[in-house]
Amino acid sequence: MKITKAIIPAAGLGTRVLPASKSVPKEMLNIVDKPAIQYIVEEAVAAGITDILIITNRGKGAIEDHFDHSFELEANLKGNASKKKIYDDVVYPSNLANIYFIRQKETKGLANAIACAEKFIGGEPFAILYGDDVIASPEGKPVIGQLIDAYEKYGVGCVGVKEVPRAEVPKYCSLDVTPLEENIMSVHNIIEKPAPEQIVSCYSILGRVVMPPSIFDYIRRTPTDEKHGEVLFTDSMVMLARDGSLNAVDFDGKRYDMGNKLGIMKANCEFALNHEEIGEDFKEYLKQLVKDFD
Ligand code: UTP
Repeated sequence: MKITKAIIPAAGLGTRVLPASKSVPKEMLNIVDKPAIQYIVEEAVAAGITDILIITNRGKGAIEDHFDHSFELEANLKGNASKKKIYDDVVYPSNLANIYFIRQKETKGLANAIACAEKFIGGEPFAILYGDDVIASPEGKPVIGQLIDAYEKYGVGCVGVKEVPRAEVPKYCSLDVTPLEENIMSVHNIIEKPAPEQIVSCYSILGRVVMPPSIFDYIRRTPTDEKHGEVLFTDSMVMLARDGSLNAVDFDGKRYDMGNKLGIMKANCEFALNHEEIGEDFKEYLKQLVKDFD
C-alpha cells in the first residue's frame, strides 16, 4: 500500500529553547526565511505524502496560520510585478498538501501525541516527522522517502538512525541491531537515554519514523513509565522490535535539532551559506568574522 499520510507531532513545550518559544511555537522558529516546520512539510511532500496531520496544542495557532491563506497579504501583493516572487512564497505553504490539525489536550508525551492521530490514519501505514527535527538531504532523496522505500520493501516499521558520537548517545537512545543490507538493519532493542555502560551501538533514532497502523495497539498496550509518568513511544517501538517488526535505516541526510539553541544556530548558519540570495555575502561575512576572532 502506497504511503500517503504523515503526522507531525508539534505539541511539545519546547522548554529547551525558552524564552524564544514562550509565545512563538519552536516549530515556527526561523531558518533564514522559512519556519522550521515548512522544511519538514516540504520533505514529506517531496516523498509523495499528500495528507498531513499536525498535532498542536494551545498557543500554537501560528502554525495553522502559516499553512492557511492570508487574504489581506495576498491581495496586497497580487498583481504587483515587482513583488511576484514574494507573492509566490507567501501562497506556497497553503498549497503544499492537505494539512489538518488536531490538539493534544494535555502534553503527555510523544506516544500520547501520536495516539491522537489514530482516526486520521484509518488503518494505513504512515510516516511520522518530529516537528523540531529538520533534515536536509542535499543530493539525494528526502529522508522520509528513504524510510518509506524500506517500509515498502520489508513490510515492517522503520526508524531513521544515524551514528552519533559516543559521548552524546546518553542524550538520545542506543539501538541493538543486526545488518540486513548496506544501510538497513533489523532492530532488536532500543535503550532510551542509556548510561555509558548500557550503550550497545551508537545508532540513535533522529526524528523520522514509518509505522504500521498496528502501532496504535502497541501504544495502548505499553505500560506507563514510572519515572516519567507517561507512556514512552520508545517503549511501544521496543515491543514492535521484540515482535521482529522493526528495521532501522541509516539515512543519507543531515539533521538539525531545532529544539535546542546550538541546533538552531547550526541550521541557520548552514542554510544561509547555501541560500541563493544571501549565500555568497554570508560566506564573506563569516570568513571575515573568523579572521577577526583569530
Ligand atoms: P521533544 O521532547 O523533543 O519536545 O519531543 P519537547 O517536549 O518540546 O522538548 P523540551 O524538552 O520541552 O524542550 C519530540 C517531538 O514530539 C513532540 C514535540 O513537539 C517534538 O516535535 N511532542 C512532545 C508532542 O507533540 N507532544 C508531547 O507531549 C511531547
